[in-house]
Amino acid sequence: MNIRYELLAPADRKKLPNCVSDMPFGALRTNHMFLVDYLDGEWRDARIVPYGPIPLMPGAVALHYGQAIFEGAKAFRHPDGEIYLWRFEKNAERINHSARNICMAEIPEDMQQEAVERLIDVEREWCPVEPESALYIRPFMFGTQDILGVRPSDSYTYCIMLSPCGPYYKGGFSKSLELLITCKYHRAVSGGTGTSKVAGNYAASLLPAEYAHSQGADQVLYLDCTNTYLEEVGTMNHYHVLKDGTFIIPEFSDSILKSITSSTVLELAAAGKVKARQEHIRLDSFIEGVKSGEIIEAGGLGTAAVVSPVGKYILEDGTVVTVGDGRVGEHTRNLYELYNGMQTGKIPAPAGWLKKVGRF
Ligand code: PLP
Ligand code: COI
Repeated sequence: MNIRYELLAPADRKKLPNCVSDMPFGALRTNHMFLVDYLDGEWRDARIVPYGPIPLMPGAVALHYGQAIFEGAKAFRHPDGEIYLWRFEKNAERINHSARNICMAEIPEDMQQEAVERLIDVEREWCPVEPESALYIRPFMFGTQDILGVRPSDSYTYCIMLSPCGPYYKGGFSKSLELLITCKYHRAVSGGTGTSKVAGNYAASLLPAEYAHSQGADQVLYLDCTNTYLEEVGTMNHYHVLKDGTFIIPEFSDSILKSITSSTVLELAAAGKVKARQEHIRLDSFIEGVKSGEIIEAGGLGTAAVVSPVGKYILEDGTVVTVGDGRVGEHTRNLYELYNGMQTGKIPAPAGWLKKVGRF
């Protein structure tokens, strides 16, 4: 791909601050971004330019009808000093699943791969090395056509921006989350867009998240629309751990995002590295299991969340159910250490899971 570079002079570039892990997730930006436009059936003008405003017509489809999708991926600096992408090809594949789901143009996966490597190559010094930190990658695409009829845009912009980050939840891995389980709100429905990272899913999660905060919880653990089965959190998949150390992840359905992190844990299980499987999990048996002590740990899985422990569930009637002693358990800690160890190059990862960022 032909990429045009319009780079800031070294003197005009900001530098990576110390202590990224203390900053709110997503607060930082690097100096540049990647952009490419889709028009008349072709991707055009691929460019790496200073991070800044993107011109958009007020009638752009993305602004009115939400034709917008995104991904979340990470890169890590390894002990050899090189930067490695973690399973980015899975994100490249999934953004095209999301694109198909809301009738957008697909983005060639080799173009996405080259774009992310070239952008990171320009921003090498922005990859942090503190514990629990990473270079977070946010690819996204939006419909730019200036029309008011409800129909798919015929033009798009695909962008990649970077954000050096610490943990997603304040307090990091050592602080257990509290989740609200409610029948009042649902994240996604069968036949809808729950398997995709479309912007509207996240807009719809804002009010439920505020409700969760008003009830003393960090987030909502969503149920399916019959209020029978556990689904996921608005920012991560869910798991619980049985007494024998097995991780149970809700079976992917057409209203759950097929998490790359969960899928990776299941691949590790197939290779005998952890005990994990998927099941349809009834809310009533889950609560019973937590109360009886059959379920000893719980948490969330995601790119931003990595492995995030959950210590308590707040139920609709205000009852609080504590998992184990409410603190981070050993299985959760071991999984986090294995996962993060592979991502950061401290523990060998299966072939193909890490890709060294090229030097161009
Ligand atoms: N579920 C939702 C709704 C998410 O937004 C995310 C984050 O991407 C996840 C689950 C975890 O998915 P992944 O592990 O691919 O980041
Ligand atoms: C991610 O884990 O990358 C996500 O996209 C989740 C969240 C930040 C919305």
